[in-house]
Amino acid sequence: MTGTSEFQSILNTLAEPVIVVNSARQIVLVNRAASILFGENLVDQDFVRVIRNPECLRCVGAALGKECLAEGSFSMPVPVRTTYRVRAQRLKDSENFPDGAVVSFRDVSHVIEAEQMRSDFVANVSHELRSPLTALSGFIETLKGPAKNDAATRERFLDIMGREAKRMNRLIGDLLSLSKVEVNEHVRPMDEVDLTAVIERVIAQLQPLADGAAVVIELKLPAMPAIIPGDEDQLVQVFQNLIENAVKYGGASGRVRVAIEHYERATGFNRPCVGVAVQDFGEGIAAEHVVRLTERFYRVDDHRSREKGGTGLGLAIVKHIINRHRGRLNIASLEGEGSTFSVLLPQRAG
Ligand SMILES: Nc1ncnc2c1ncn2[C@@H]1O[C@H](COP(=O)(O)OP(=O)(O)OP(=O)(O)O)[C@@H](O)[C@H]1O
Ligand SMILES: [Mg+2]
Repeated sequence: MTGTSEFQSILNTLAEPVIVVNSARQIVLVNRAASILFGENLVDQDFVRVIRNPECLRCVGAALGKECLAEGSFSMPVPVRTTYRVRAQRLKDSENFPDGAVVSFRDVSHVIEAEQMRSDFVANVSHELRSPLTALSGFIETLKGPAKNDAATRERFLDIMGREAKRMNRLIGDLLSLSKVEVNEHVRPMDEVDLTAVIERVIAQLQPLADGAAVVIELKLPAMPAIIPGDEDQLVQVFQNLIENAVKYGGASGRVRVAIEHYERATGFNRPCVGVAVQDFGEGIAAEHVVRLTERFYRVDDHRSREKGGTGLGLAIVKHIINRHRGRLNIASLEGEGSTFSVLLPQRAG
């Protein structure tokens, strides 16, 4: 009923690479996706010469042998490392085909990457929680034993214990925020938010921190009100983290500048935007770190950031919230001169 050229057309519609071999492992049909992956003119070649991967060969051998269906995985290192799930299914002798096997390849790199990310994430969370817990257990032991009757030491230890407990609390708060924003990242927030009011409120909240670090926060307001569709609580979180980071990590020069501006046009947007730039004049961040700042738990100076109570989740949360608002985060930094974290948010939905 169906000839080889019809089979060829049907196979070409499949997105997955497919190769059909006869019982001598000679290639008899190749679809377009397989030609793109393994090269042209494969028909009549020996499968062994085309795909020199032991796992693939094992599957084909098993399918042609007793098993009928064999599956396995293998990776191709070039051009980018890609992992495939290979499936070889025995093809019984029919009027159109001699005995053979259909070999298909499914790209599972993203699944493996997601699994890796999940296990890294669990390892990171456990590590982050373990350090304050170990410290707390140590202090409890000392307070029960050697420092039992030493009032001064007790006070000092209780202070540290309070700080560690706060850190754990903050970490858990950040983890909850992250999972909440990830869940509704695709739902665009639609409340009307006055960005200027949000930023003024955040600066007022951060005033004690800025005073403590001897940093003056300057604010440049736009001529018109900056009203955007958004989620107010989440926008507070964005600017709280950016301004807090600027004070904590970039406040050495005693000055942080926040500027809100309207943009009729901005690259990548087809409607007017509001831009908020949070600029510090501190040490700056080396280029190799800048590209990784929004990764979860990424800290430039692990020890220093931890000392300042940082969890390394702030910018990951910021990035997700900005994505949810269909906006953009840009980080520019020059070592020795400071950093500017700019947020662009579209002013109208659409
Ligand atoms: N303005 C800045 N200048 C220099 N380094 C910065 C600046 N902002 C962020 N960083 C670096 O980026 C890292 C990640 O920042 P992020 O806000 O994600 O985490 P954090 O501040 O450590 O923790 P959290 O925000 O949860 O308190 C910081 O630890 C710091 O090393
Ligand atoms: Mg932060």
